[in-house]
Amino acid sequence: MSSNIALDVKNLECAYGSVKVLSGITFQLESGSILGIAGENGAGKSTLVKSICGLLKPAAGKINCHVPAAAIHQEFNLAPDLTVAENIFLGKELTGGTLLSVKAMDSKAKELLASLGVSISPETLVSTLTVAEKQMVEIAKAVNCDSGVLIMDEPTTVLTQGETEKLFSLIRGLTAKGKAIIYISHKLDEVISLCDNIMVLRDGEMAGIHPVSELTPRSLAEKMVGRELSRIFPPKLPEHSNVVKLEAERLCASGVKDVSFTLHAGEILGVAGLNGAGRSELAETLFGLRTITSGTIRINGKAAEIRSVQDALKHKIAFLTEDRQGSGLLLEFPIDENMTLASQANYAKGGFLNFRSIREKALHYIRSFGVKCTSPAQEVKNLSGGNQQKVAIAKCLDTAPEIFIFDEPTRGVDVGARREIYDFVHDLAAKGCACLLISSDLEELLGLCRRVIVIRNGALAGEVSGEELTEQHIIRKAAGVEK
Ligand SMILES: Nc1ncnc2c1ncn2[C@@H]1O[C@H](COP(=O)(O)OP(=O)(O)OP(=O)(O)O)[C@@H](O)[C@H]1O
Ligand SMILES: [Mg+2]
Repeated sequence: MSSNIALDVKNLECAYGSVKVLSGITFQLESGSILGIAGENGAGKSTLVKSICGLLKPAAGKINCHVPAAAIHQEFNLAPDLTVAENIFLGKELTGGTLLSVKAMDSKAKELLASLGVSISPETLVSTLTVAEKQMVEIAKAVNCDSGVLIMDEPTTVLTQGETEKLFSLIRGLTAKGKAIIYISHKLDEVISLCDNIMVLRDGEMAGIHPVSELTPRSLAEKMVGRELSRIFPPKLPEHSNVVKLEAERLCASGVKDVSFTLHAGEILGVAGLNGAGRSELAETLFGLRTITSGTIRINGKAAEIRSVQDALKHKIAFLTEDRQGSGLLLEFPIDENMTLASQANYAKGGFLNFRSIREKALHYIRSFGVKCTSPAQEVKNLSGGNQQKVAIAKCLDTAPEIFIFDEPTRGVDVGARREIYDFVHDLAAKGCACLLISSDLEELLGLCRRVIVIRNGALAGEVSGEELTEQHIIRKAAGVEK
């Protein structure tokens, strides 16, 4: 065997209990190279990562790791009550004499984060960070392990393009030093631009390994789903009605400054902006999660008091949060209970919950969204990332909303399921629901919306529609170089 093989996997098979999820996985990873892994939600990508890291014992086959491996897992593994530096050094604290050298850790942490282009103070508590910052800390933590194989499972789902580019140059620097990288992402253009080869997983089996020179995002997507793909976006909706469903007037809350806009029945209104611009804060304010300090929300032309989530639900507002693991879902609970969580009152009869109708409703959603699971009783934490997102959408939908706020609905979702979600948003709007779509994916905003508002520093930085509805205009407004 040649000496520059960092990782050698032969005939790997993995199962959860009696359910086989991976079989016949065979590949070698050379030092200094980047292998991408692509596959639909539930194809087995994260399972492969867990088995390589020793978190999951293979049912059969061999994994020979010739150098230590470190991974950034799809779900955050940070300790919220520790500082950024403490998290980065967790388990491998620097010691100066007998004492932990806090100073040395802080300065090394700072250096690592600076190489990623972020300026978070090492003393910050992780619980106070945004999702993008947490992701950066995860990356810094893994890079700090200085291992020969570094695996990244969806590291850029919450990052902006600029942040992603910094990460990529860091990765290229690591491969130049001889590290081997495994990179997993649903952003197919990214995988193709970064990797040397891409392995396609389909239903737990290898559907091939291809040099990127042979691939385009489209051909890769087709290899993932095993069939030809036609369109990804549904046809645009005709002009929406003139019925104003929701109106924000000079709305202020923490992180939201003087924002005014209107949302019409049957419209998909896009919300663009850089990470941290205040888009999620605006959504949280509309959903009663932030205290309104001044300004008004009107629904169906009448001033609406929204002081709590209950108030928002009463006004038929649904909110698909970007933080599905933190506040969207109860991970330890089964799929069916999660799907009916926000609408439980509908299933109560004489003080008892009707579990049969809960189960039936869940089965309906599982079928219509194609959720990959063993049964409605399966715990949500055992679903793949993309399938968790589908459960979160079903949960919102079950409240029969008239106003639906989506915060990054396709984050971590594969091409096939992404198309299903686009169709879903489209159909919802076609039936008259007013949809607010927050997204960092400009293609998504341009593909679905006729009008996009841009948020910058918590305030409205502009609105684009018609001829102006282009990537260029949105980016320039989000960056503050165009009024
Ligand atoms: N702890 C677990 N117990 C039981 N089944 C599991 C567990 N973890 C994952 N699975 C199942 O194994 C299959 C593969 O899941 P995995 O998380 O590896 O998919 P993935 O390719 O990473 O998907 P995604 O793109 O959505 O992240 C899925 O059907 C999933 O439901
Ligand atoms: Mg995964």
